[in-house]
Amino acid sequence: MSKKAGKKRVAIFISGRGSNMEKLIRSANEPEYPAIIVGVISNKTDAKGLEFAKKQGIATAIISSKKHGGKVATDEAISKQLESWNADIICLAGYMRLLSKEFCQKWQGKIINIHPSLLPQFKGLNTHSRAIEAQVTNHGCTVHFVTAQMDDGPNIGQIIVPLQNGDTKESLEKRVLIAEHNLYPWALAQVASGEISFAEITQASK
Ligand code: GRF
Repeated sequence: MSKKAGKKRVAIFISGRGSNMEKLIRSANEPEYPAIIVGVISNKTDAKGLEFAKKQGIATAIISSKKHGGKVATDEAISKQLESWNADIICLAGYMRLLSKEFCQKWQGKIINIHPSLLPQFKGLNTHSRAIEAQVTNHGCTVHFVTAQMDDGPNIGQIIVPLQNGDTKESLEKRVLIAEHNLYPWALAQVASGEISFAEITQASK
């Protein structure tokens, strides 16, 4: 069996810049990495990250509710695309759209997301300004399995980023993004190699 044949097939979902997507693609280009990136899906035609994916020769698809109507129909179109790529794992990387309960259940244990806070703190948007306002000692980022509840689901890993005197939203965001770029390739490798699984984490927490 070729090395490529044993690797998990990963689709990445983006809505914008795609810097985390870029890190995942670069990691998956390494021969020993346990996953390959088979496609990138965006809900935005102008998502900047699409350019990099295309340059890397990775298939891209724009799937938005504009064309497909409701959330469930859109998510069904996404599932069809994933099935045509034989995707095993989905990485949400700045994908600014909530997935339906049906989609989350269908792909349960196979969807992971990166969030710029130490979950369960600061779910949702504007995490950096909220962390500064709350005067927390530590902020950071989390990769977790996705369930139907937003920014919920068992954690795969976190990196702590301590706040510094005089931090602004921008300075903090910059440091957290560096941490994200280290965390996400590691977390995907854990899931792709079977070191960490949804079933085991949920079983252990019962
Ligand atoms: C990241 O901070 C990620 O944690 C959040 O959205 C941002 C996306 O950035 N979900 P990029 O598109 O990966 O550069």
